[in-house]
Amino acid sequence: MTDKIKELILRLDKDRSLSLPEYEELIRDRDSEAAELLAELALKRKKEIFGDAIYTRGLIEISSICKNDCIYCGIRCSNDKAERYRLSEEEILDCSDEGYELGFRTFVLQGGEDPYYTDEILCSIVQNIKAKHPDCAVTLSVGERTRDSYQALYDAGADRYLLRHETADPVHYAKLHPASMSYDNRMRCLRDLKEIGYQVGCGFMVGSPYQTQKELARDLKFIEEFGPAMCGIGPFIPHRNTPFRDEQSGTMELTLYLLSVLRLINPKLLLPATTALGTVDPRGREKGVLAGANVVMPNLSPRSVRKKYELYDNKICTGEESAQCRGCLELRMESVGAYLAVDRGDAPGYTI
Ligand code: 5AD
Ligand code: FES
Repeated sequence: MTDKIKELILRLDKDRSLSLPEYEELIRDRDSEAAELLAELALKRKKEIFGDAIYTRGLIEISSICKNDCIYCGIRCSNDKAERYRLSEEEILDCSDEGYELGFRTFVLQGGEDPYYTDEILCSIVQNIKAKHPDCAVTLSVGERTRDSYQALYDAGADRYLLRHETADPVHYAKLHPASMSYDNRMRCLRDLKEIGYQVGCGFMVGSPYQTQKELARDLKFIEEFGPAMCGIGPFIPHRNTPFRDEQSGTMELTLYLLSVLRLINPKLLLPATTALGTVDPRGREKGVLAGANVVMPNLSPRSVRKKYELYDNKICTGEESAQCRGCLELRMESVGAYLAVDRGDAPGYTI
């Protein structure tokens, strides 16, 4: 590690901020020694706030139907080989009941942008989950909607919203998405969600096509300035039925490095050790926790649909039952000195 990189890391830990060129340098000139120092500081900061607790969210993948055509994504509308399904309100409520029994106090309803889920239908689902489980948080992750729609869902009881920004660079954004989607609308959604009062999660893929250190530096600056409650990052993994089928996966090494950097930018940030990280390496999620992550999101979807929610190839956890996923993660977390908290796991500083 050069003296300059060491200085940048120590200054980031002190000031929680670097300039754009400095973030770029921190990524470009990294080595294993720098990664070790970052992880050590990241773990220290994480423990000061969260101790050894890892927050869990039960992920319910409500629909593989999507009207969008993101180039990287396995459930893009032009993948005519994708198997499509949609869960009914009853099925979603059943998943949340099962999740509650297993100790989950947050449910994440995630799906493609499926027009079936009108405000009316989604509001009813949110209201019913909250009525049955008033001590639980409901997180939505169903893509870009109007401000009025976000407001209605918030009024129905949704607490949080996950919408990855995907990349904080408009030119890069345009290379990953069809012309019908826009960077400006993505950012508008994130601003609206924050203003309405949601705990907002954004995030990006590591190693997505055309991504360089410059784009990643912008992502880091964006997180620093936007101040999300959560930031989901995981390696890009190609899907065989997308135009990016021959692209390389993002690496675990760079993902772990960025997790540590994000922890130093905001020690209170909720940072999931993602399924994609567990897909590129069998111990990816454990290593993510050792690099500074503090959230895991095991799958609560009915086993019959799991393989169909295939955003990328070889996704893990598609053959297991919900209880198996929870038990598996419990053991994995114990193996790195952490434990799964039975708790809503709100971002520190947010009141219920
Ligand atoms: N590889 C990794 N992550 C992906 N996502 C979508 N497609 C892929 C892929 N091929 C991520 C996106 C999206 C989230 C739900 O999954 O960042 O926001
Ligand atoms: Fe799903 Fe391990 S977390 S099988």
